[in-house]
Amino acid sequence: MTNPKRQMKMGVSMHVMGYHPGSWTMPGVNPNGLMELKHFAHVAQTAERGLFDMMFLADHAASRNLANLKLARENHHNNVKLEPLMLLSALATMTSHVGLVSTVNATYNAPYTIARILASVDHISKGRMGWNFVTGFCPDEARNYGYDGLPDQVLRKERGQEFVDIVQALMDSWEDDAMIRDKETGIFFDRDKVHFINYAGEHLKSRGPLDICRPPQGQIPMVMAGDSLSTKTLAAKRADVLYSAKSTFELARDYYAEVKGLMAGFGRDPEALKIMPGMMVFVAKTESEAREKLERITATTPVQVGLSEMLPYYDDPFGMDLNAPAPEIVLDAAQSPKGPLHNSGGTHSGAALQSAVDRINAVIRDRKPTLAELARLMPSLGVWKVVVGTPAQVADEMEHWFLNGAADGFNLQPPYMPAGLEDFVDLVVPELQRRGLYRSSYEGTTLRDNLGIKRPADRWAA
Ligand SMILES: Cc1cc2nc3c(=O)[nH]c(=O)nc-3n(C[C@H](O)[C@H](O)[C@H](O)COP(=O)(O)O)c2cc1C
Repeated sequence: MTNPKRQMKMGVSMHVMGYHPGSWTMPGVNPNGLMELKHFAHVAQTAERGLFDMMFLADHAASRNLANLKLARENHHNNVKLEPLMLLSALATMTSHVGLVSTVNATYNAPYTIARILASVDHISKGRMGWNFVTGFCPDEARNYGYDGLPDQVLRKERGQEFVDIVQALMDSWEDDAMIRDKETGIFFDRDKVHFINYAGEHLKSRGPLDICRPPQGQIPMVMAGDSLSTKTLAAKRADVLYSAKSTFELARDYYAEVKGLMAGFGRDPEALKIMPGMMVFVAKTESEAREKLERITATTPVQVGLSEMLPYYDDPFGMDLNAPAPEIVLDAAQSPKGPLHNSGGTHSGAALQSAVDRINAVIRDRKPTLAELARLMPSLGVWKVVVGTPAQVADEMEHWFLNGAADGFNLQPPYMPAGLEDFVDLVVPELQRRGLYRSSYEGTTLRDNLGIKRPADRWAA
């Protein structure tokens, strides 16, 4: 655990104007940023200035929950977004080192289409593409693709595994040295080094080969997220990065140990998978300034937005008296969230949910807030880790997780963009570098180079 040469990996989740729902109303935040390439270019270039491994675009192809009139969706900026693969393709031309990770939904896409796009952007970016493999959590997204609701989970996961098989087989369908391009002989490629994949699964079929040379990274690094045993097992077997939502060191450490333990069963080196929990950071030169930043955004958060964040915890927060003291939350024995998960995006389950409940109940006991006051606090009490403090205090927390078996790095979730990222790059990055915990220049030019994960040999050549 204490290898002095081991350094943190860093990503930034940048699909929204900030991970705090009040972000878009903050001074200095461009409320139309989500539709503007120049906003994302600035964020990407700032991440690159901070030597980040990757920028990560979460995605679900839907404006969510508009049919539910109780939810104040009109307050939320994240109902609109640019299509992430298109956006990253544009950003590839405006950056040189930072990795470009797009969420890809295996349930609603054809694997051949996705393999083409991933391989293309990997060529365009000279080896910086990554994909976050998901199978969907959002019924509105399913409806946009012709389903009446979210397809069965087992079916999504089975189909998803076949999807990964096909995408990865297609990446290998042209061997690395298949191209001859000899003007004298007129031979462009070696026919023996191009392979049909002839994949026929239960749900998906593809003959191949891909119509694109093997991408610079060989295989596109795969990111995953999730808490179920099936997700952790698939990640242990095949993923390169695991993005987790862990609000405490203990939860992150247990998760880390379990997944790294599972890797042994697949004969994989634990270093081959980077576990990177999300972290929302409010940082300033002094602790009181950092606290003011959190207090300012808390005060701007509409109460209605906070109430929708309470849905996993109370049966009907919208029917409760806003001016009455907030009651303590009681979960059932199975630690199940209340009602459908309107806002959680599949991140609230089991121990993570119980830990959030413990944190919220502690605030209820200590501060005795009204329901309206608690609603405004909700975005900083959920399933993500929130750190507020000076650069040294933030670095202390990150160092503790990193050196004690809870993280290989972090996915920064700035509360608002771009200032939340700029603050981190200007204040925390130099502190981490000073401690030797973070790079002072990029190790290489591809996402694999920087993550420190090997480029896999082509299966045919092997
Ligand atoms: C940190 C994190 C980020 C996620 N990002 C996305 C996303 O962008 N799009 C998506 O459809 N699902 C996303 N998910 C949902 C997961 O892909 C998965 O469906 C969910 O966590 C349930 O998985 P489980 O059954 O293994 O717990 C995310 C989950 C987590 C924890």
